[in-house]
Amino acid sequence: MKKKIVVLTGAGISAESGIATFRDSNGLWENHDIMDVATPEGWRKDRELVLEFYNQRRKQAKNVEPNAGHLALVELEKHYEVTIVTQNIDNLHEKAGSTNVIHLHGELFKSQSTVDSSLVYEMEDWELKLGDKCEKGSQLRPFVVWFGEAVPKMEEAILVASKADIFIVVGTSLLVYPAAGLMDYTPLGIPKYVVDPNLPSTSPDPNLTLIEEKASTGMQKILEALIP
Ligand code: APR
Repeated sequence: MKKKIVVLTGAGISAESGIATFRDSNGLWENHDIMDVATPEGWRKDRELVLEFYNQRRKQAKNVEPNAGHLALVELEKHYEVTIVTQNIDNLHEKAGSTNVIHLHGELFKSQSTVDSSLVYEMEDWELKLGDKCEKGSQLRPFVVWFGEAVPKMEEAILVASKADIFIVVGTSLLVYPAAGLMDYTPLGIPKYVVDPNLPSTSPDPNLTLIEEKASTGMQKILEALIP
């Protein structure tokens, strides 16, 4: 039986594809205050602004390609049972060919009903507009978990993390909970790796290997270490 690898990814894995990370720009996300575009309060205040913000993210994401970091995770699937738990709403893991992806914070190319959160729709195009409605007649919103909202997929992510043989973290500042706490649910003593160009100089845990590099080159090192 193949060993199980669980990979937690964040905005950093998509940086080399040309998608900006969140916290490299003073709390502004593509020139917007996160509170205006990624909270239920922001949505109540100005739905048009929020819809347009995600329309632009979708338009951008449509035209970007996965990078060597995403592709390395596909390669790992040949040798391991891989589950990716991503905080990213882009679809670059799927575009690269990863088959088992849990999107903790939702998916950019899906929309969701505002009266019934179980109604989620694939989007055919990049634009979601005021007046676009779900089958129950209510406005559609981006299928994104905003700050202050529950993270329904967290339970599933905890369950897979608790069965991991190897745990890898790529490109996340580990500042946003509950995602940041996922490593705490892994079995004691398993090998863990963190890939990020900005890391502390020493590892707090002997089983945790810090790879202070970008996703592309850092993941290459992990492939060399994990694939015979
Ligand atoms: N390769 C790997 N990591 C990189 C790269 C790269 N080329 N470039 C930057 N990074 C790292 C940064 O050093 C940082 O640690 O990626 C991390 C990005 O951190 P954040 O911008 O905080 O993104 P993330 O951790 O994914 O944010 C979590 O916060 O805004 C919310 O819901 C949103 O899912 C998001 C969550």
